[in-house]
Amino acid sequence: MTDLARLVQALPKAELHLHLEGSLEPELMFELARRNGIEIPYDSVEAIRAAYDFSNLQDFLDIYYVGMNVLVTEADFFDLTWAYLSRVHAENVRHVELFFDPQGHTDRGIAFGTVLDGISRALAKAETEWGLTSRLILCFLRHLSEEAAFETLDMAKPHLDRIHGVGLDSSELGHPPSKFQRVFDTAGALGLKRVAHAGEEGPPSYVHEALDLLKVDRIDHGNRALEDGTLVARLGREQMALTVCPFSNLRLCVIDRLEDHPLKRMLSLGLRATVNSDDPAYFGGYLNDNYIRTAEAIGLTADEIIELAKNSFRGSFLPEDKIEAHLAAIDEAVRDVMVAS
Ligand code: ADE
Ligand code: ZN
Repeated sequence: MTDLARLVQALPKAELHLHLEGSLEPELMFELARRNGIEIPYDSVEAIRAAYDFSNLQDFLDIYYVGMNVLVTEADFFDLTWAYLSRVHAENVRHVELFFDPQGHTDRGIAFGTVLDGISRALAKAETEWGLTSRLILCFLRHLSEEAAFETLDMAKPHLDRIHGVGLDSSELGHPPSKFQRVFDTAGALGLKRVAHAGEEGPPSYVHEALDLLKVDRIDHGNRALEDGTLVARLGREQMALTVCPFSNLRLCVIDRLEDHPLKRMLSLGLRATVNSDDPAYFGGYLNDNYIRTAEAIGLTADEIIELAKNSFRGSFLPEDKIEAHLAAIDEAVRDVMVAS
């Protein structure tokens, strides 16, 4: 293990941008297809991986929505969630804030409660067994209507003890945040946190809308905010967390090479950037790989890597005392790494 990999492994971290359905590994996709008697358009794990060659976000989404068709029973959602949690537990991740896309399931006739029960059973088990804490964020699919988003929010209402926030994902271009202003107002009135994908492919105006109209507590991605100096100044002033996803940006051609990733620039501009894996089964790596390979590609210093880990807790929805405890644990881990090297 390199010194860099040792540091990343040693740091307690949170992951704030992870689509559970995007953690469906080809092996599990195959097993669930068999278990549920569902046809998938691939005849091997290798064929699935070969199909993961994307030119943009829509290319990926077309495949992502087919993949999730194998998820049917409560046990499927448990297995999916448990597989992800097991992986990141081994990477020293202490807290996760996870997205799920209920409309990708309810539109296929799967009950909202089936999805939520499977996911939340795995989350509870991870907290009991490992102290790995979590929050669950329900995402609205922005290519669908406002009315459909309201229907989904209605389905969630009896379960708000297990749902912490709402998000906005799927095809960004042509579906500005303004389309969901009223749904986000209603979600806010229910006491839910609000986040939205903005500035992944969409223009800086979408980031402005997410802040001003959706009143978000975090921006997911936010890369294109860098094109607008006023926006950068505001994001820095408000210390608005950006959940940045380097491997995703590379695989969806938001950047041409990992060496071109703007993460270091975001930090030097004083932005509260965090590192996340987005859809790790599709984009070639989980959280620690995102830290390590991005750090190598753009030359992050140890201090910058530590700052990113700290930002992951500062940007989380944990209460202040828990955040302080995680920050202290990071300082302790850094001392231990220095003593050992
Ligand atoms: N759904 C899953 N991953 C996504 C991403 N990176 N952007 C928008 N929607 C998504
Ligand atoms: Zn995402």
